[in-house]
Amino acid sequence: MSKLWGGRFTKETNKLVEELTASISFDQKLAKEDIQGSLAHVKMLGEQGIISTEDAETIADGLQKVGKKLENSELEYSVANEDIHMNIEKFLIDEIGPVGGKLHTGRSRNDQVATDMHLYLKNHTEEIITLVESVQGAILEQAEKNVDTLIPGYTHLQRAQPVSFAHHLMAYFWMLERDKGRLVDSLERVNWLPLGAGALAGTTFPINRERTAELLGFEHVYPNSMDAVSDRDFILEFLSTASIMMMHISRLSEELVIWSSQEFQFIELDDSFCTGSSIMPQKKNPDVPELLRAKTGRVYGNLMGLLTVLKGLPLAYNKDMQEDKEGMFDTVETIEGSLKLLAPMMETMVVNHDKMREATSQDYSNATDIADYLVTKGLPFRDAHEVIGKIVLHAIDQKKFLLDLKLEEYKEFSTLFEEDIYSVLTPDNVVAARDSYGGTGQKQVLKQIELGKETLKK
Ligand code: ARG
Repeated sequence: MSKLWGGRFTKETNKLVEELTASISFDQKLAKEDIQGSLAHVKMLGEQGIISTEDAETIADGLQKVGKKLENSELEYSVANEDIHMNIEKFLIDEIGPVGGKLHTGRSRNDQVATDMHLYLKNHTEEIITLVESVQGAILEQAEKNVDTLIPGYTHLQRAQPVSFAHHLMAYFWMLERDKGRLVDSLERVNWLPLGAGALAGTTFPINRERTAELLGFEHVYPNSMDAVSDRDFILEFLSTASIMMMHISRLSEELVIWSSQEFQFIELDDSFCTGSSIMPQKKNPDVPELLRAKTGRVYGNLMGLLTVLKGLPLAYNKDMQEDKEGMFDTVETIEGSLKLLAPMMETMVVNHDKMREATSQDYSNATDIADYLVTKGLPFRDAHEVIGKIVLHAIDQKKFLLDLKLEEYKEFSTLFEEDIYSVLTPDNVVAARDSYGGTGQKQVLKQIELGKETLKK
C-alpha cells in the first residue's frame, strides 16, 4: 500500500517495522479529537485564504462524514497507515478525493498529535473532576449520618483517641478536594494550543493560530513552536495528580478492607460490591477496594514510564513521544473506573455503629483526657502525663479500663482527682471535648460538613 509519506522511498517498509512504528492500535482513541482539531484547522485555512472556502467546506463535510462512519464502525483502520492522523487523512481522501490532501497544509503530525492530546486531556480532566465530586458527595452523605458514630482513631494502627466516624470520613473529602484543585490547576497548562507550530519551526503559510485556538476553546497558543511540539509536561502533570489521587483512593480502600474484616467488623460492604470464594462458601471478599488499592501500581508505573521516556530527549519531536499515549489512556481509564465504583460503594456501605462504639469503650484511648483533667486542676502537662502513665499501668495490671477504676484508686495517684473525673472519661465526652477548630468534637464536625457542602457547591 502506498504511504502518505512514500515519495522519498524506494522500498516497501519491513512488516516488523510497520508493526513497531504503528500506533493505530491504541491512538484510535483520539479519533474524535483528531477530527475536531482538523475541523478547526481547515476552517482557519479557508478564512485565511490559504485554501479556497469551497475546498475548506468540502474538507469539513468530508471530515464529518468520516467521523460518522467511524462512530458506526463502518471504516477499518490499517496498520500500514501507521497512526490515527494518517488513517483519518486517508479516509478523507477516499471520501472526497484529492482535495482532501489540502487538509495537511501548514500543519505537521507533530503539532497535530500534541493538539489531540491536549483536547483529550481537557475533556477527560473535566470528566474526572465531576467524578471526584460524586465521590465527595457520597462521603458527605455518609458523614452526615455518622456524626455521633464513634470509632477508635488510630496512630501507628494502635488505638489513640476516639473520633467521630464522620470526622474520619471527612478526612478523605479534603484529600479529594486537593486532588480536584490539582486537576483544576493543571487545566491552566492543558489550555495551550500547539497547533500551528508545524513540524518544529512554524510554517510559511499565513496561518492564524489565535483563531484556531478560539475555535477549539483554548485560552492560549504556545509562543514557541519547538516547545509546542515537544512539551509533554501537561501529561506528566496529569499523571502526577492521578498518582496522588490513587494513593488517596488506596489508603481509603485499605481502611475499607480492614474495617470489613472479621477482626474489626466496623463496616459491611454491600453484596453487590463483593465476591465469593470458589472453595470457601462462607467467604465474602472485599475485591473492589483490594483492586482499587492495587491499581495504584499501574498509575504510578505510567508516571515513571513517561518521565523516563522524556528524560534526555533532545528538541524537538522524537518518535519516543509516541509512547506517551498508552500510559495516559490507561491512567484516565483506571481513575475514571475507580471513581465510578468508589461513589456507590461508599453510599451503600453499612456502618456497624455498635461494634465501633464498643471498641471505643474497651481501650485506654481516654488517657489523654485524664491528663488534660489534671492540667485544668493546675498540674503541668508533663507531670500529668507521668501520673496517667502509672494509672494506665495499674489499670492494665488490674485488668480494668480507666472508667472502671474507683475514685480511691485515682486518689492514690493524685489528690486532685474528684468524682467529676468519670464524666470526662466517657467516649462521647472525650470526643465532644475536642471542640477546637478542625477537631473531632461533634459541633466542629457539623461545621466541617457544612463547609464541605459549600465547597462542593462552588
Ligand atoms: N503517531 C505519532 C505520535 O504519536 C504522531 C506524530 C508522528 N510524527 C512523526 N514525525 N513521525 O507521536
